[in-house]
Amino acid sequence: MKKLCSFFILILLFNNINIMAQNKAKILVLIHSDNGGTYELAKEIAKGIESEGNGVSYIKLVKASQNPKIKDLPIATVEELTEYNGIAFGSPVYFGNISTGMSEFLSKTVQLWTNHALEGIPATVFMSAGSGAGKELALQAFWNSLAVHGMILVSNGIRGTEDLNKAIPQGNSVLGITSMASLKDVERPTKGERYLAELQGKNFAKVTLALKDTHSKKTTAIVQNHRNFNEILKEKNIVLPQVPKPAGNYQPFVRSGNLVFINQVALRDGKIVNPGKLGVDVNEQQVKDATRLTMLNVISVLNEAVGGDLSRVKQCVQLTGIFNTKDDYTKHADLMNAASDLTVEVFGDKGKHARATLGASSIPVNSSVEIQAVFEVE
Ligand SMILES: Cc1cc2nc3c(=O)[nH]c(=O)nc-3n(C[C@H](O)[C@H](O)[C@H](O)COP(=O)(O)O)c2cc1C
Repeated sequence: MKKLCSFFILILLFNNINIMAQNKAKILVLIHSDNGGTYELAKEIAKGIESEGNGVSYIKLVKASQNPKIKDLPIATVEELTEYNGIAFGSPVYFGNISTGMSEFLSKTVQLWTNHALEGIPATVFMSAGSGAGKELALQAFWNSLAVHGMILVSNGIRGTEDLNKAIPQGNSVLGITSMASLKDVERPTKGERYLAELQGKNFAKVTLALKDTHSKKTTAIVQNHRNFNEILKEKNIVLPQVPKPAGNYQPFVRSGNLVFINQVALRDGKIVNPGKLGVDVNEQQVKDATRLTMLNVISVLNEAVGGDLSRVKQCVQLTGIFNTKDDYTKHADLMNAASDLTVEVFGDKGKHARATLGASSIPVNSSVEIQAVFEVE
């Protein structure tokens, strides 16, 4: 009898936990920030969301940052946007518009748009400005993009402004909170701006909770593909490394039309793996290991170029492997197979490519290998 009672109590507890989890609203606070001003507002927005009991906030960046204040924040992928019940978007004001970082991210959401994947999901916006010039134009521009997605735009109105210190300029706006970071009369965001940001988060969580599950969830093909790719990598025990930072005045990748161009060496955690010349400092196996690592770096950069959705890769067009070898070495093709095999393993037929290999008397940063890659993407 005692056992039966415990069993029922356990079932009740389990059901309660389930119901509690179901009542939560997952809200993404998605930001671009150069100097941390937008992040300061994001923290207040998140605080407001969390104050609403069942609101759970996740602050993420649209792209990696070197700024110590935010460099450890997670990076959002385009595909994960559909996993949230609401999204609060934050960006610096650039020339009366959203920042290029935010704009780049939004420009990768075309597939979500054509799949109606964000329709009916609540959105709110906030921005960090300098002087505040054009801040409302910028907020309005933000709304334009989100309106095209069919998101439900949640405004601030004049909520909370009665408590603002009107003796100093404040970044309140009916569309969303802003802060004017270059006005140094008082600390920015001001107490009032922080307060309004928190209020915006709280109100946004209320709306999101009320609308939760009212829109039909479009688990689009993209999301499915994205998961599949993650699963493929997991199954094959392939872990993509962190995208190596450029060591000079160049970009990790350049997209021209539908082609993406990438060059990488055997860097891992800022250090060259198995450096030097084949037959002098390293043997063939070590160069093959370095080649596989270099190709993983290439795929990691490619993943960034396609907004974290490797299913957008249509073809690996060409790989060029350059090896630090002695003058009489001839087995470059064997070395390069480490990269080619990995590419086919990850992308299947789409990974089959044209190829060139060559030897060099030296390679930058003493890497034993460099790979140049060209991919066609959607
Ligand atoms: C390219 C560029 C354009 C900018 N345009 C404006 C502007 O039109 N109005 C404004 O008030 N501030 C402008 N700023 C200043 C930023 O909006 C301001 O520094 C903001 O606080 C940066 O946000 P963050 O700290 O999150 O990076 C501009 C900054 C840059 C880099």
